[in-house]
Amino acid sequence: MSKKITAAITAVGGFVPEDKLTNFDLEKMVDTNDEWIRTRTGIEERRILKGEGKATSDMVVPAVQELCRKRGLDPKDIECMIVATVTPDMVFPATANIACDKLGAVNAFGFDVSAACSGFLYALTTGAAFIESGRYKNVVVVGADKMSAIIDYTDRNTCVIFGDGAGAVLLEPNEDGYGVRDSILKSDGSGRHYLHMKAGGSLKPASIETVTNREHFAYQEGKTVFKFAVKGMADVSAELMERNDLQSEDIAWLVPHQANLRIIDATAERMGLPKEKVMINIQRYGNTTAATIPLCLWEWEKDLKKGDNVVLAAFGGGFTWGATWIKWAY
Ligand code: UT7
Repeated sequence: MSKKITAAITAVGGFVPEDKLTNFDLEKMVDTNDEWIRTRTGIEERRILKGEGKATSDMVVPAVQELCRKRGLDPKDIECMIVATVTPDMVFPATANIACDKLGAVNAFGFDVSAACSGFLYALTTGAAFIESGRYKNVVVVGADKMSAIIDYTDRNTCVIFGDGAGAVLLEPNEDGYGVRDSILKSDGSGRHYLHMKAGGSLKPASIETVTNREHFAYQEGKTVFKFAVKGMADVSAELMERNDLQSEDIAWLVPHQANLRIIDATAERMGLPKEKVMINIQRYGNTTAATIPLCLWEWEKDLKKGDNVVLAAFGGGFTWGATWIKWAY
């Protein structure tokens, strides 16, 4: 009898732009201060992709090139690429298609997933299902966002939070139980009122009014989102542990979406995990939306050990939220 196929992560790549936007820079732009930002969010600086003609795909490409290099994979041999993003290069075609073209991944099919801050978990779960089906030998899953393209740098409620970046993982079949073991994904569209971009979609196409009214930027009712995020991320992580009979001591790492240090702390506490087991880089990158989780995996790759139980957890616009259990494969 053939063994069950799981989707193992076999390489990680990442990219953050060089340009930094610090809390002190923001003090000069809006009515805010370093102390407020640090104590309310945990963020000290974020990276911004600058330059004419630079888009989300320009961060996807170096992230994927890095994982190809690490794994000795020719981009021509990539079979599928899924890009989670809310800041695609264009409304259409998909950023995945553009990135594949730039990479020379001529044999891959690709598409984007729109699930905001939970996008990487949605894309990872989708990619894993392709591998588990036995039909594909590899799938590249990317979380990438150029949030600076949709942030109003006169709005102190949002401009202090977000940054740009991209992270990518390679999924390959495994017959020894490594890789994605379980995933719980949830969404509730009634949450759209609290976190969205008002214009630019079919509901409200771009017009002079929408531009004048600054409606092409991310809008967030932070306090409401915060309440849902604390509960949603902690609940779904606890549910994932319970359904897989995972105890706190079984978990090597929590990889939380980096939206707010207080949300991360609440999730870790609910899971009974000490700080040392939680990947946190929000202070350096801020909230890079779909990129936060793969960027953590990228930074902590050298600390991960074969067999580690890793729990990824996210909450974001939609609302969308979820948690994924991975057995690290290398
Ligand atoms: O990743 C996607 C999901 N998103 C999230 O998970 C984000 C969830 N929300 C949050 O992280 C937090 O709600 C924020 C960081 C966005 C805001 O923190 P908060 O503790 O919820 O602050 P608040 O919105 O309740 O605002 C408190 C005060 C207000 O002043 P008043 O009304 O008390 O006088 C705000 O006007 O802080 C003020 N404020 C600021 N002050 C200095 C809001 N933004 C700033 C700022 N600098 N940047």
